[in-house]
Amino acid sequence: MDFDFTPDQLAIRKHMREFADREIAPKAQANDRACEFDWDIAKKIFKEGFLGCPIPEEYGGLGYDYIAYGLMTEEVNRVCSSTRTLFSVQTSLVALTILKWGTEEQKRHLLPKMCTGEFIGCFGLTEPEAGSDAANQQTRAVKDGDSYLLSGQKVWISCGSIATHALVFATVDPSLGHKGITCFVVDTKTPGFSAQSIKGKLGLRASDTSSLFLDECRVPAENMLGKVGDGFKIAMSALDNGRFSVAAGAVGLVQGCIDQCSTYAMQRITMGKPIGEHQQVQAMIADMVADCEAGRLLYLRAAHLKNKGVRNTLETSIAKLFCGEAANKAAHNAVQIFGGYGYSDEYPVERYFRDAKVLNIYEGTREIQKIIIAQDALGIRYANGTKTGAPTALAGACV
Ligand code: CAA
Repeated sequence: MDFDFTPDQLAIRKHMREFADREIAPKAQANDRACEFDWDIAKKIFKEGFLGCPIPEEYGGLGYDYIAYGLMTEEVNRVCSSTRTLFSVQTSLVALTILKWGTEEQKRHLLPKMCTGEFIGCFGLTEPEAGSDAANQQTRAVKDGDSYLLSGQKVWISCGSIATHALVFATVDPSLGHKGITCFVVDTKTPGFSAQSIKGKLGLRASDTSSLFLDECRVPAENMLGKVGDGFKIAMSALDNGRFSVAAGAVGLVQGCIDQCSTYAMQRITMGKPIGEHQQVQAMIADMVADCEAGRLLYLRAAHLKNKGVRNTLETSIAKLFCGEAANKAAHNAVQIFGGYGYSDEYPVERYFRDAKVLNIYEGTREIQKIIIAQDALGIRYANGTKTGAPTALAGACV
């Protein structure tokens, strides 16, 4: 693995860092307090074309690789997890999934507008009875002439109320188990489709999270992504990219904690000296730095494999697990370093603390990542489809 970034990768990281500091950070606290998705920030993101970072130029994207995309995602999350969620959903779960599974016509119709934000996507997989058990889809797709009627309910869908298009997973025949699950691109203006925002979230308060309701929602058969029965594999492959962006975002949150704590710890005086000179504070900051560096290497390894077109479910799960845990630990310690001030939203670490929790819940819980990793190590189910094992996977990455 080449540890040097290319000029392009460094340039997009610098561009995103400056954008995040100038446009996102100053409004993050107010948006969090107001529990509002900030359309002004979103429109500026659209204008920069950031949402199309890893999408090829022929489909309207910036044509960067996954390393650049990871670095960019990290920079966004360094200041605001809610804004990063837009990238994880729009770019990773929806656009990259259409790029992989869509027909040429679907790609030409959807991707350029997704890169500019004219179309906004959401990922309709989770249901009240199908969270970790994603194969247990209850939403039904009934063929009716040259279209399908979709009926069911989705829950915890990021961007659900702002989306123009939803990837909806539904079963054509529950008796087929995961082999009956089929994926449709649904225009959210279709009669029978509605969304309702979920209020009172612990974190990600400036991002939309919704329930979706489908009541005999008529979708043309040509809006199917892949073939009948491909839906589960489509969802899992989408999550390989979604979890990657969550891992990169989590590293950004750790970096945000380091930045906040290093400034504060050298200003705050106790017992006659800056708290940064007290060893117990140094120990917490050292843990953050070590976790940040380790997490960054893990998501970059996954990015490297993605760039090579190599299956990376295992490496992505490891990155998502480690980085999500690191973010929670870092945010916990950041509040500790800030003491009483960390307990109020006067400083961003309180928001980071609340925003960190979802990193080991959504896009596959911490426990699901552990199942994927442990079953691979035990030879019960190989995460990448065939036996790789951690040593081989590492060797594969070090070329
Ligand atoms: N890529 C392609 N195919 C894959 C795959 C992948 N990453 N992972 C599995 N598959 C294929 C398998 O090869 C298998 O194919 P065959 O039928 O041909 O053999 C098929 O899918 C079924 O695989 P499994 O038997 O391994 O599936 P399972 O039912 O045992 O589930 C699981 C495995 C890992 C537990 C999976 O259910 C899972 O990841 N659950 C968590 C779901 C999740 O992350 N939900 C979050 C939703 S998104 C969200 O959070 C909302 C939002 O808006 C952000």
